[in-house]
Amino acid sequence: MLGVGILIVAAIALGLGIGFRRYQTSVTPSPSSSGPPSRGPNSTSTFTLPDWKLDTSTAYRISKSWNSSEPATTRVYNLTISEVAGWPDGYNRTLTVINGQFPGPLIEANMGDRLIVNVQNNGVNMTTLHFHGLYQNGTNFMDGTYQISQCGIPPGGSFTYNFTVPGQYGTYWYHSHYSTQYMDGVVGPFIIHSQEEDDLIGAMYDYDQVVLISDWYHGLSEGYLAGYLASGNENTEPVPDNGLINGAAFFNCALTPGSTCYQQDANRTVFNFERDKTYRLRVINTGGFAEINFSVDEHPLTLVEGDGVLIQPTTLHKLAVTVAQRYSVLITTNITSTDNFWVRAELIEYCFHATNPVLVDYGITGVLSYTDNANSDAPPYSNSMTAETDSWGDVAADVLCLDLNNTSIEPMIVTQAPDATVFYRVDASFQIGSYAIDLGYFNGTSWKPSSTAVLNQAYEMLAPGLSSAVVDNNSTELLNTTGPLALGVFGGNQDQYIINVPDYEVVDILINNLDDGSHPFHLHGYKFWVMGTGMGSFPYNEYGIFNTTNPMRRDTVGIQGYGWALLRFVADNPGLWPLHCHISWHLEAGLLMQFEIQPKMIAQFEPPAAWAQLCATQ
Ligand code: C2O
Repeated sequence: MLGVGILIVAAIALGLGIGFRRYQTSVTPSPSSSGPPSRGPNSTSTFTLPDWKLDTSTAYRISKSWNSSEPATTRVYNLTISEVAGWPDGYNRTLTVINGQFPGPLIEANMGDRLIVNVQNNGVNMTTLHFHGLYQNGTNFMDGTYQISQCGIPPGGSFTYNFTVPGQYGTYWYHSHYSTQYMDGVVGPFIIHSQEEDDLIGAMYDYDQVVLISDWYHGLSEGYLAGYLASGNENTEPVPDNGLINGAAFFNCALTPGSTCYQQDANRTVFNFERDKTYRLRVINTGGFAEINFSVDEHPLTLVEGDGVLIQPTTLHKLAVTVAQRYSVLITTNITSTDNFWVRAELIEYCFHATNPVLVDYGITGVLSYTDNANSDAPPYSNSMTAETDSWGDVAADVLCLDLNNTSIEPMIVTQAPDATVFYRVDASFQIGSYAIDLGYFNGTSWKPSSTAVLNQAYEMLAPGLSSAVVDNNSTELLNTTGPLALGVFGGNQDQYIINVPDYEVVDILINNLDDGSHPFHLHGYKFWVMGTGMGSFPYNEYGIFNTTNPMRRDTVGIQGYGWALLRFVADNPGLWPLHCHISWHLEAGLLMQFEIQPKMIAQFEPPAAWAQLCATQ
């Protein structure tokens, strides 16, 4: 069976003109579905990796010998977007990928470095790249948000992102910010090293590994989006077909008869980890919809970082990660009862409003396999490698779609949240509007991409003369309004809900989630303090007595159905910064608003000509 499968895949690969990477290994995966693989010096098999598949066992291993104290330098990454046929879980579909591979390459830098990211779009759709969680202070035009901070990079076009990364470190990621495109494969990890982080936690672990977890759909996201936004569909999000761990998972092809599905390539990710070592796992939920419980059987997780903020080590068994959140956890490979353990990414079913007949198991698995040396050449993927371990019994978040309780985690570096100087309340909701279409709203406005990027419009209004485009008189509104700008201030566009913060302020933003579903809200350009979260209505009588000493700081927070969150940030980073639900379906349904921070400073921006040119040619 194994040989036949490889032959079929090889024949297909030859037909498609793609090559393979080969692993020679002394581990023969057991063909049965249970029991550990047999080991022996004479048992060999050949494992082949399709060209489109990034070998995350090496590409996502972060070197412990990286020098985080070298002087700031410039690092260049060349990223080409294209479509390829790929089968991350065996099921063949079109992927939109970076440099021909899925998932995307690791981007690494030291705090303070300059990044030059050259993007060439060879895909059939627009694209943009957003570097999630980066401040982009002074370079808001490099934030990569389609029709907000830039116009799209058209098919055949290119754009260079050029920015520095001072004042922050830890685990971030990058993704397309054009429509739902990132769900088709345009994602990758973005790691910022620093001496400070090394000093604080570097000695706690021996190895460092990125672990992307996500939901997964068997077709292009644009197809599902059309159905989701169709009239009469009352906010029933498409339910994923599967989930992935580092871009791979098992899928039973018999569930989709008639489809092109390569059972032999429905491979789980295998983490070949050295015995008796401590590993830092940088868990990133790069999915579009599902919140995920991450765990490793029999291995407690020591949480040390969330969204680029170091956390006082705290131990848990299952870690709930909403879309776009990141956590670093430490595990120690010192269990003696067996050698193979399930690594679990459990899609939290409670958050789904429907079922999908091919999603028969919400518990997506990979395998942690102990090895005796770190340079094992055992295959990083296998569909026959299994474990016999049991999941931790903890219920964790699976019955409630709850974010990890932000009050149970404490940043290592203590900060004091300053008193707020302005307070805004926004109500996030879904409402049935015209044509019976269910859309997402912030204070009654549902976002749609503007006809040209809003930052380009703001820049032209605020810095007249720098551009040949039409300058209009709305710039006084942009400069002087405190609070929501009049709808239509940008080219008559009624779909942009923008809160203006003309000067340096400490902003409190109360988000009331009036929807029954939970939403992971993300603010670009900042980390906010999570001052409080709760259910029902906000306790105004307690405002002013929230704990201000060292609340958790992060860039993405889950707010449960009919709940609220009070977030505080220091508005010291000028630009137009979206605040949106990171569930791709909800973003495209309009659940996005923006802050315009310090417009006088926006007028001082010095964007490259190529940035304005993207809007001129669209
Ligand atoms: Cu991951 Cu608008 O961002």
